[in-house]
Amino acid sequence: MYQAKAERYDSMIYNRCGKSGLKLSAMSLGMWHNFGSGANYDNMVDMVTTAFDLGITHFDLANNYGPYPGSAEENMGRILRREMSAYRDEIIISTKAGYTMWPGPYGDFGSRKYLIASLDQSLRRMGLDYVDIFYHHRPDPETPMEETARALDHIVRSGKALYVGVSNYTPEQTRQMAALLKDLGTPLTVHQPRYNMIDRAFFEDLEPTLSELGVGSVCFCPLAQGLLTNRYLQGIPADSRAASKSPFLNTNRINEDLLDKVRRLQAVAERRGQSLAQMATVWDLRNTLTSVILGASRASQIVENVQALSNRNFSEEELREIDEILGNKANA
Ligand SMILES: NC(=O)c1ccc[n+]([C@@H]2O[C@H](COP(=O)([O-])OP(=O)(O)OC[C@H]3O[C@@H](n4cnc5c(N)ncnc54)[C@H](OP(=O)(O)O)[C@@H]3O)[C@@H](O)[C@H]2O)c1
Repeated sequence: MYQAKAERYDSMIYNRCGKSGLKLSAMSLGMWHNFGSGANYDNMVDMVTTAFDLGITHFDLANNYGPYPGSAEENMGRILRREMSAYRDEIIISTKAGYTMWPGPYGDFGSRKYLIASLDQSLRRMGLDYVDIFYHHRPDPETPMEETARALDHIVRSGKALYVGVSNYTPEQTRQMAALLKDLGTPLTVHQPRYNMIDRAFFEDLEPTLSELGVGSVCFCPLAQGLLTNRYLQGIPADSRAASKSPFLNTNRINEDLLDKVRRLQAVAERRGQSLAQMATVWDLRNTLTSVILGASRASQIVENVQALSNRNFSEEELREIDEILGNKANA
């Protein structure tokens, strides 16, 4: 069994998640890619234990992560059981339901039927009695939000999740869900939006609402799935996400315009003494975020990205230059 490093809490930063009592590591590890059924077990263990040794306590899953859907939870369950059972109380496990998981009308979106059945399945796959955070993964245009809120409240009261959150909800939907949950006596603890240098609008629009409501923010895709790194500067590596069968990162996105921006961003990063991946990670964290969820295909990427915490201040000039390169108007 794996033995965690004694110094694992020495250099990570832990941020309070909104107004809750929960602190999360400023960096989390996500299992959307590279933890599915074809993934190498030893490499997955290496990534999870390396992250934990560096102070990453938060591991982000969803019912549908794979492929096949559910296999990332099965693999994390295996890792927790075989390697890390001694550390369960030092670990935050998140999972979600909201996207298509099984056929028929009960395996998608936000009904009470779907959310409760899905979490029961997730717990079985991971071999856990409870998850720490359960998210509604996306808004449901049909189910009354009252029903989704009551299901989330029930999930907390039944002890199957300690905290609940939403993902991909607009500011107005977030406000509505927070009010419904508050009336039921269960706080909305966290929101999970996309946020990176290229894709900023969703979070920047949402952030004032989260601050006002005291809801934490755990942002995904800080590296734009690897585009904001040096990964594609010499072509498309065979072992990269773009070359994989993942439907989420198409090689069309890797065009000369993007590569030109990436090269110029890399020059800014180099002046800061960082890799582009490191700069993009801490660029997210310069904002009032609780945590960024990093993805990885190997442990060395996690080591590199966590090292960025030692240089997370930006000068006004650096921020302006990044904005100019990406054609964004300057933001605070
Ligand atoms: N709530 C939602 O709707 C939602 C949606 C999407 C994601 N998420 C969560 O967010 C997590 C992270 O998403 P993501 O994987 O897209 O995050 P990301 O951090 O933007 O991208 C991760 C990818 O970047 C590359 N990379 C990482 N570090 C690198 C480094 N130092 N140098 C070069 N390349 C590096 C790797 O690509 P290669 O694999 O090519 O090596 C890695 O797989 C997911 O696992 C999931 O938990 C949530």
